[in-house]
Amino acid sequence: MEFNTLKDMDFNGKKVLLRADFNVPIKDGKVADDQRLLRTLPTIQHILEQGVKQLIICTHLGRPKGKVVEEMRVTPVAQRLSELLAEDVKKVDFVLGELPDDLIVMIENVQFEPGERDNDPEYGKKLSEYADIFVLDAFGQCHRNYATLTQIQQHIPSCAGFLLEEEVRSLGKLLENPERPFIAILGGVKLETKIALINNMLDNADNVLVGGAMIFTFYKADGKEIGKSIVDDEFVGEAKQALGNEKLVLPSDVVIADEFDNNSPKSVVSVDSIPADKIGLDIGPDSINEFTRLIAEAKTIVWNGPMGAFEMSNFADGTLQLADAIAESSATTLVGGGDSLAAASQAGVLDRMSHVSTGGGAMLEFLSGKTLPGIAALAKVRQ
Ligand code: 3PG
Repeated sequence: MEFNTLKDMDFNGKKVLLRADFNVPIKDGKVADDQRLLRTLPTIQHILEQGVKQLIICTHLGRPKGKVVEEMRVTPVAQRLSELLAEDVKKVDFVLGELPDDLIVMIENVQFEPGERDNDPEYGKKLSEYADIFVLDAFGQCHRNYATLTQIQQHIPSCAGFLLEEEVRSLGKLLENPERPFIAILGGVKLETKIALINNMLDNADNVLVGGAMIFTFYKADGKEIGKSIVDDEFVGEAKQALGNEKLVLPSDVVIADEFDNNSPKSVVSVDSIPADKIGLDIGPDSINEFTRLIAEAKTIVWNGPMGAFEMSNFADGTLQLADAIAESSATTLVGGGDSLAAASQAGVLDRMSHVSTGGGAMLEFLSGKTLPGIAALAKVRQ
């Protein structure tokens, strides 16, 4: 899908509206993780270096759903951005209104206005009137059909920022022409949110290694006892279909405990003998060995989702050992999604991945083969 990029535009003397995804964790009134800000800096710096008249930045934060929610104001984001840029970022407390003429202005959380999630064309048009050029760099939200992702492009010349361009190039390359063997390692709790990705990876990859609580839905589909483990009952049918695919690799053993509690005594069992009164909380050592062997042979690896309840140290081995194995491998490695990033960062291997996606849902939908509305809207207006 072709779209304009920053290099296609002349920003000199222009007013530019940038839609970023600065949906970042806020703790005690401060940005707790500034990865998404850091990854957008090259776009901001490029625009500023071109001698713009004004740069207006907007983002959502949390899900205020059309209302003003005090703790979701973007003030801490503007403060952190100002520190990172070493430039004043003038934060205003409204989304639509009379802007001051400072060089860099950040407007309020775009989701404080109902028009955002309603994808209201009028709201999009009003926002477009702030600027001469629109830059979309919010890859993490491009899977949403919301006004700042899809409407503004229809009114003023528009392009993608560097982050969006790089995400689309890196993820797209993986889908189109991966070096093989290409494996996907997919974990997490809910099969519901991952089944489309699993199916698309079964079409594209050579092996799909599945871990995390969603394995129990597969075991249930296979008629096994799963004890008190988490299961997505409505997806047992889908799981059964995928079971027929020989590319699917499920763990052969699991770590079980009495309760979902870090201090609950644990043991390792084969997936064929999970006791009815136990809960599965991690993949077992044999599975770690088998997954590690496949990782060592792979030339391309996509990783999304933890292998177990890694937030509890006694059930983190599967996730952390695989994170290490992925970092050790000479393959092209891609990691994305909030919980995978947290796991990679806990394992200290984030900077050893070839590509770290800023997208959670957006990355999953892209890799599931779906067209993201924000990117489609940008492609549609390519001059
Ligand atoms: C994210 O954090 O993954 C994106 O910003 C999407 O946020 P949303 O799920 O609230 O739309």
